[in-house]
Amino acid sequence: MPLSKIAGIGKYLPERVVTNNDLKEYMETDDAWIQERTGIKERRFAKRTEETTTTMGVEAAKIAIERAGITAQDIDFIVFATLSPDYFFPGCGVLVQRALKMKEVGALDVRNQCSGFVYALSVADQFIKTGMYKNILVIGAEKHSFGMDYSTRGRNVSVIFGDGAGAVVLQPTEKEGQGILSTHLHSDGESAEILAQYNPGSHANHWMETPVADYNDAPIGEMFMSHQMIDKNQNFPFMDGPSVFKKAVVKFPEVIAEALSKNGYSPADINMLIPHQANLRIAQFVQQKLKLNDDQVYNNIQKYGNTTAASIPIALCEAWENGKIKEGDLVCLAAFGSGFTWASALLKW
Ligand code: UT7
Repeated sequence: MPLSKIAGIGKYLPERVVTNNDLKEYMETDDAWIQERTGIKERRFAKRTEETTTTMGVEAAKIAIERAGITAQDIDFIVFATLSPDYFFPGCGVLVQRALKMKEVGALDVRNQCSGFVYALSVADQFIKTGMYKNILVIGAEKHSFGMDYSTRGRNVSVIFGDGAGAVVLQPTEKEGQGILSTHLHSDGESAEILAQYNPGSHANHWMETPVADYNDAPIGEMFMSHQMIDKNQNFPFMDGPSVFKKAVVKFPEVIAEALSKNGYSPADINMLIPHQANLRIAQFVQQKLKLNDDQVYNNIQKYGNTTAASIPIALCEAWENGKIKEGDLVCLAAFGSGFTWASALLKW
């Protein structure tokens, strides 16, 4: 059974740079707080109307496809990971199929937030290994700037996130030992509500001890997204940051260790760890815990913020473009986020 390899990789970051100081226009915050707590100096915001999650994904995909030495017509399956889709439905995958004038191939959207890209990669990996598909396009993209609370009330969430996209083309390997060695996927829904966007949704407060949305006067048919929800700012993401942080620093090392032990490696064997860019302090904690050197871990949250499903393919692409990943290198991808879901992938580049 052939393994699958990343045959091409691309990224797209919107042009507009938004510094921490720029955010002061909307909220009470300061550069020092954001840098100390998260490591973030600036992030990118997509053009308000011309760029969407899909258009950014398409730009990253074009580069990945070209670098794989194929055309969009050769792609036989699309997997798109995002939490900020262009439409509530249909998903972004079909919009990519349309935009790139592809054949009538299957298009799957993955909703696993920060671990979305590793989940998507794992799904694609299975289809390659079974021989069902030969060229799979995997995209992670987000347009967070469109749906965050940029007032002081929402600052603990909104300062962290940025826009962008990354994409890879997966193909069967020809070389022995090259490619994705294993992927590891996990979830624990016990704390699903501590990092979530509840509305629009069908929950009607079913899971909540304390109501999170106002349904009292909402007429039937307007309970998915009502005027009241918007008037009361119930249409923004919620995060209990410290609780997420505490879980993340346990699960990141655990899922990396799982990938290494499955393949008979130890942390010292890693040439490059690409952690999901959630918070520089989380990545540094993981680095210390695994006793990794600075050149074994790639971080770029300082420039782009947390781009959720896009963060790993953007960082992987940038590390590769900067010559930090070479053929034969052992590369580990690891993610943790909303759900909770967490995941890792170990690759021989
Ligand atoms: O990728 C998805 C997964 N997400 C994560 O992994 C996020 C994990 N969590 C974190 O990264 C951190 O918890 C945060 C960066 C979100 C927050 O850092 P923290 O050190 O946990 O701060 P905190 O939430 O405990 O807030 C400390 C203080 C509060 O003020 P008081 O109550 O102590 O007076 C906040 O109101 O900082 C205040 N604060 C801010 N101040 C200036 C919160 N946000 C801001 C802000 N600017 N943007």
